Amino acid sequence: MIKRKLVAFTGSGISAESGLKTFRDSDGLWEEYNVYDVATPEAWHRDRKLVLDFYNARRRQVINAKPNDAHIALAKLESKFDVDIITQNIDDLHERAGSTKVLHLHGEIMKSQSMLHRQLVYAIKGSELNEGDLCERGAQLRPFVVWFGEEVPMIRPAEHVISQAEIVLIIGTSLQVYPAAGLVQFARPGVKKYYIDPNPDANIYLGNTEVLNSKAGIAVPRLVERLMTDNYE
Ligand code: OAD
Repeated sequence: MIKRKLVAFTGSGISAESGLKTFRDSDGLWEEYNVYDVATPEAWHRDRKLVLDFYNARRRQVINAKPNDAHIALAKLESKFDVDIITQNIDDLHERAGSTKVLHLHGEIMKSQSMLHRQLVYAIKGSELNEGDLCERGAQLRPFVVWFGEEVPMIRPAEHVISQAEIVLIIGTSLQVYPAAGLVQFARPGVKKYYIDPNPDANIYLGNTEVLNSKAGIAVPRLVERLMTDNYE
């Protein structure tokens, strides 16, 4: 049986019920930190330790977090659909829930990257990445994440993946950050979309979209149940 292609595009809201903060909600990370101090190339040049400390704290939280019912439900979908996850999240909760195809648009917190040889990417052992941690060619390692002002190398592969989708799920994202937010426009016209968010962006026009105004941990398992039983032929 050929499985239908389903693409889930996720943002920080899907990990909120795992205890990881979103960015732009009232208690979000960008309320607590100035993005320009911790998540830009300029910040890295100005105060490397501050940047490393910020991501070390994020990494410790990710290690202690567990996938929630929404991550787990998406992994279950693979028994009926050919599922691709495109996530803006740098955590590894989709993988730990069992999803097998996960494309990270904004990088991965559990990995480091050489400052000089960008192809050199390593799994981080433990939670800390520090000044003096070097790649095999002697250059400082940085968090393997996309900072503001940097290119998003995975955007083209992501556009290709979403253009193949027959069903699209958009979960827990404010759709404020480009180019990621523009991805949904690469879905084929008329493709059925579901947008799950307790505070969905009211101005967004996606077309053929069912908005489920609810938390991911509740709405995603319910929707997955529906999709597993519905006849989508
Ligand atoms: P935002 O903080 O902009 O948006 C989070 C969204 O999650 C909001 O629409 C909330 O309503 C929603 N939300 C909150 N709790 C939820 C829950 N329990 N279930 C479902 N949804 C919930 O975060 P993102 O859209 O992920 O980029 O932000 C995009 C990018 O901006 C991030 O990848 C990051 C950030 O700056 C970089 O660091 C490059």
